[in-house]
Amino acid sequence: MSRFVGGIGPLEPDLMAVGEAPGKHEHEQGIPFCGPSGEILNECFYKAGIRRSQVYVTNVCKYQPPMNDLRKLHMIGVNLEEQAERLWRDEIQTLRPKCILAVGDTALEHLTGYTGILNYRGSILLAKDGVTKVVPTIHPAALFPHWEGGQQRGGLEYTYLKLIEHDIARAVEESKTRQLSLPDRQIDVCHNSLELHRFFERYKQLDKAAVDIESINCIPVCVGFAFSRHHAISIPLLRRIGSNSLTDMGDNELDECWRVIDRELRRLKLVGQNFKYDEFKLGLIGFECPNVYSDTLIKTRVIFPELPDKSLNALSSLWTREPYYKQEGKEFKLGKKK
Ligand code: URA
Repeated sequence: MSRFVGGIGPLEPDLMAVGEAPGKHEHEQGIPFCGPSGEILNECFYKAGIRRSQVYVTNVCKYQPPMNDLRKLHMIGVNLEEQAERLWRDEIQTLRPKCILAVGDTALEHLTGYTGILNYRGSILLAKDGVTKVVPTIHPAALFPHWEGGQQRGGLEYTYLKLIEHDIARAVEESKTRQLSLPDRQIDVCHNSLELHRFFERYKQLDKAAVDIESINCIPVCVGFAFSRHHAISIPLLRRIGSNSLTDMGDNELDECWRVIDRELRRLKLVGQNFKYDEFKLGLIGFECPNVYSDTLIKTRVIFPELPDKSLNALSSLWTREPYYKQEGKEFKLGKKK
């Protein structure tokens, strides 16, 4: 029978770290995160200014799964959903940490309901209870090539450690307060040309804007402008794509929007991420971008060349407090990720 490996740490923790399940070392010693993954966590806590003994460390599942494969838990009579319920009832709701570090996808899913650790890592999220903050990070085991469920897993580039360090520092910072405070942000979807005129009128004193296009099957379908981190507008470029209607605007309204977009793309100093792509796509449909001013991808390549993931999502997670946003604004998110 697999050994029960319970959570360990202070009884009034500011921060709780939740992993997946004990591995070999944890099973042998009866202590969560006491093997190589734990060493990485300890080091990251230290770099973030706290000691591991200040953190309540636990796992969603308290038993080592056969062959470290959660799908085999039934072979030892353990049910993952029940384990997660116990985590909530006996640990989270009893100890009430201010923030939980979700270590890996299993913890992310059982704490928040989201999946996709590479997307959500570094975001400040709300747990399923609607009050506890959760900051997810990549499981350190993903850095080590290892056997799991009869397959070789892990072996992510070692530079992912930088992301783990960053996320843990963010979780430590968030554990200082109970409040969730995220940046104020408003994204308008343009429904007529008057809204677009008003948007640009409001910012006419400013000469720099961030610009981004979204494409579906390589066809640019909308363009967004923002003059600050707080407010953006997304403008459809087409009335429909295939059977998907993108806007209720008629041709005349859309024509006027195109004229405004053209004027602003020529007037403004443009900031973008991998803007060569946007510039090329916009060029194909007749827009010119004479004043490309700054490209965040090129900047990142210069100042942080070893960063393993330079997607806009990863950059936002490092340099802003914006949570993962690609799920939002579904009406213009039918297509491929940039
Ligand atoms: N991996 C986990 O998810 N938890 C541990 O305790 C050890 C390794």
